[in-house]
Amino acid sequence: MARVRQAVIPVAGLGTRFLPATKVVPKELLPIVDKPTLQYVVEEAFASGIEHVVLIQGRGKSAIEDHFDTSYELEDTLDKRGKSAEAEMLRKISRLGQISSVRQKVALGLGHAVLSAKAVIRDEPFAVLLGDDLYRTAPDKRPGIGQLMDAFAETGLGQVALMTVPKDEIHKYGAAEGASEGPHRFRISALVEKPPKGTEKTDKAVVGRYVLPPDIWAILEATKPGKGGEIQLTDALDVLRERQGLMGVIVDGRRVDAGDKLGFLEANLLEALGRPELKDGTVALMRQLIAEAERA
Ligand code: UTP
Repeated sequence: MARVRQAVIPVAGLGTRFLPATKVVPKELLPIVDKPTLQYVVEEAFASGIEHVVLIQGRGKSAIEDHFDTSYELEDTLDKRGKSAEAEMLRKISRLGQISSVRQKVALGLGHAVLSAKAVIRDEPFAVLLGDDLYRTAPDKRPGIGQLMDAFAETGLGQVALMTVPKDEIHKYGAAEGASEGPHRFRISALVEKPPKGTEKTDKAVVGRYVLPPDIWAILEATKPGKGGEIQLTDALDVLRERQGLMGVIVDGRRVDAGDKLGFLEANLLEALGRPELKDGTVALMRQLIAEAERA
């Protein structure tokens, strides 16, 4: 079975939930403490064994490309000012791995964004990581997408990341019906994009990581616009499931949706609490803010 070597990261959405911040800056470049969201996602891909990342770009393309490119003048200035640790940190970003980009000219939906990578990825299985979705995993665990790559190596079937959510929140997600096959494996029997409230049949939500066989290209090409007039990846995945089966991986880790306002705040607080130099200050600040909010 072909190994998963390449990853597609769509970053061409309009980011309407973060306007006006995303008027000029793509939401995937908004920082979680001091590092752009997208850098965490790209690092997760390379740490999982991906060799080539394909970014699906829309507006703000040059800022994203510049972030992962060498910045000779800045590095040189930092070196001259004795800030060699900072200069080295920047050099490491440009050496993370091979990154290419493809343009999605119009944001017609996630399915359409993934399809834009067809000519680059071609005839091999590939990973998809959403550029605003973060997975925090323990240091001794495989990163989020790595867990899906392992599951694909076991079965050869397409894999989607799943998260258990309260049933009354499933209407916000792609919903996966099916049955558990062990603590982290789930056989999917139906996929529904954002099921209307009251129709929910599952508490398993599809979240931001996928490993897909190349058969998905023909399916995406035939997928008509669905919910919201967008070409939905979920609709194409349901056809893939019907034709060859589809598995879910309940990822061992914590997923945070940094493309949502509260999720973005959560991601920042979690990252700050995970850094020794910021932990105590963050806890003190949170305590103070909670006390103030309760008095108000
Ligand atoms: P989202 O739905 O979270 O992104 O898509 P969005 O459309 O930018 O968000 P809002 O709702 O307007 O705030 C998940 C990921 O897929 C990308 C987005 O950039 C994001 O990383 N995406 C979405 C595309 O690349 N192209 C699209 O047409 C849609």
